[in-house]
Amino acid sequence: GVDSLMRIPPSILKKHNTREDAWSAFNGKVYNITPYLSFHPGGEKELMRVAGRDGSKLFALTHAWVNVDFMLDSCLVGFLVPEPSS
Ligand code: HEM
Repeated sequence: GVDSLMRIPPSILKKHNTREDAWSAFNGKVYNITPYLSFHPGGEKELMRVAGRDGSKLFALTHAWVNVDFMLDSCLVGFLVPEPSS
């Protein structure tokens, strides 16, 4: 449920930027995209461009009609939040 989801600032998101451990944010939600990489119709290389960062802009530019919330529901890790100010 929603209670088990994490609040993830950009500095944490950034650490998950490898093929084996790839997270990306789309419209405020952070997904583990690793299991989906080999299924992406646009290719693994394209999807890896947004690993470790917010992919909302590139996603909207390429296919705003694709429902990422529905497709990657089981890969939801948490929510992107602002960097806490020490
Ligand atoms: C194609 C899903 C992220 C680039 C597609 C298609 C789907 C999809 C379903 C086929 C769409 C269609 O034919 O109408 C996803 C999901 C993403 C994601 C679920 C997020 C996890 C991205 C990102 C980029 C990208 C971030 C760019 C950096 C492309 C391109 C195609 C494509 C270029 C077109 C491939 C072609 O028609 O030859 N994606 N995508 N995708 N995607 Fe993604």
